[in-house]
Amino acid sequence: MNPDGIVRSEPELEPHHADVIRATLPLVAANIDRITAVFYRTMFDAHPQLLRDTFNRGNQAQGTQQRALAASIATFATYLVDPALPHPATMLSRIAHKHASLGVTSDQYQIVHDNLFAAIVDVLGADVVDAPVAAAWERVYWLMADVLMDQEKGLYAEAGVDSGDVYRDVRVLARADDPSGVAVFTVESADPAVELPGFVPGQYISVGVRLPDGARQLRQYSLVGLPGEGTLSFAVKRVEAAEGCPAGEVSSWLHENLHPGDALQITLPFGDVAVDTTATTPLILISGGIGVTPTIGALEYLAAHAPWRRTLVVHADRAPRTHPLCDRLHDLAARLEQGTVEIWYEEPAPGARRGRVDLSALTLPADADAYVCGPPGFLRDIQRQLRAAGVPDDRIHIEQFTPADAGAPERVAR
Ligand SMILES: Cc1cc2nc3c(=O)[nH]c(=O)nc-3n(C[C@H](O)[C@H](O)[C@H](O)COP(=O)(O)OP(=O)(O)OC[C@H]3O[C@@H](n4cnc5c(N)ncnc54)[C@H](O)[C@@H]3O)c2cc1C
Ligand code: HEM
Repeated sequence: MNPDGIVRSEPELEPHHADVIRATLPLVAANIDRITAVFYRTMFDAHPQLLRDTFNRGNQAQGTQQRALAASIATFATYLVDPALPHPATMLSRIAHKHASLGVTSDQYQIVHDNLFAAIVDVLGADVVDAPVAAAWERVYWLMADVLMDQEKGLYAEAGVDSGDVYRDVRVLARADDPSGVAVFTVESADPAVELPGFVPGQYISVGVRLPDGARQLRQYSLVGLPGEGTLSFAVKRVEAAEGCPAGEVSSWLHENLHPGDALQITLPFGDVAVDTTATTPLILISGGIGVTPTIGALEYLAAHAPWRRTLVVHADRAPRTHPLCDRLHDLAARLEQGTVEIWYEEPAPGARRGRVDLSALTLPADADAYVCGPPGFLRDIQRQLRAAGVPDDRIHIEQFTPADAGAPERVAR
């Protein structure tokens, strides 16, 4: 079973294909960045609407999505030729949830296939990619695609929708501007006959906005409200321009343009780093910066439905003025019967520890599941500290707000 509880068929590579993959993996790995660059360029040339309306062009500009795709294929191929390695179930589940949140459908896998294989031939040359090499990599691609398509079908079925039918028109009910500069938006269905679904704390929606150049860009936002209220709330940190990097497109647009009464497009909630609400064991919720949003979602749920559950909240930020939803975090934690909050600020502040999070200064509850969200460097550091404290890998659940590449914390090692 994968983390969604979906039965997974074990992908297996035939021995003759495995030999070819073993022999060519180093060459493909050495050229994978060039291959993915050519792949996305040719795919977007042929299907410009994919870059305009589906893919995140900020991630494309930064190269993070290219690295994530390359890393995922390399990880999957490596697993196929060495099944003794840990199954990359967590990686696959993350991708499937992200795809479902964007409404990816099975027929689109052929488009990706055609452009990816054209890019492989373009970069490595037709003499290297001869018939056996092409056939072996085709097999790897379709084995991976089959796993993803199966999981995505399962996610759509679970949500009770046709494949890809995840977009919903909503209206902004409320906007609250937090002193940290984060804006919290609450939306309701634009059509009273269509209800917005529930979700599990930790899940996210994609928010789509039409930008001034006509592109419909989508970004994910973790849900911070209470499930089952018929509304969905998310908190957006504005990404400011810095060091030659432009301001974030969607977060800036939302901050500047979105107010109560306005129309917006969102997708249904997905996301596999969701709190197990059926468990009774303790929780450790660890966040850095805007990574606090899944923690807020979890605390909302716990305060309303499981205030008895022992919960340790750890948050790291620069200073109280930069700490998103600081008052809300303390108010919610105060409603828990066994809730503890530990804050680390880089700048000195009353009631907070100073510097970087040091979990060895705390007593971590035994048998706890840890949910961690924050910038990639923070995630790697916290993962290391949790492991050092004896928390097993299958109890460390990591969410990250950027595409997961080879430098990401080891979400595959389950
Ligand atoms: C599962 C998940 C949950 C999330 N939850 C939240 C949440 O609760 N709250 C929240 O605020 N965010 C959340 N995020 C992040 C959010 O989805 C967006 O990534 C974020 O709002 C930035 O989007 P943007 O359009 O403003 O920035 P983008 O325009 O996408 O830019 C992102 C970065 O790329 C850089 N960039 C863009 N173009 C270029 C270029 N040409 N050259 C160099 N650099 C460039 C920008 O400077 C910026 O630093 C989440 C992400 C995920 C995946
Ligand atoms: C076997 C084929 C595929 C693989 C291996 C793959 C892999 C990935 C990976 C690794 C990510 C990043 C997940 C993360 O956020 O960490 C991703 C995201 C994404 N994928 Fe795929 N994918 C495949 C097929 C497809 C198809 C068919 C489509 C449809 C057009 C698609 C569209 C997207 C989009 C839009 C994103 C989000 C991009 C972003 O936010 O920058 N993918 N995929």
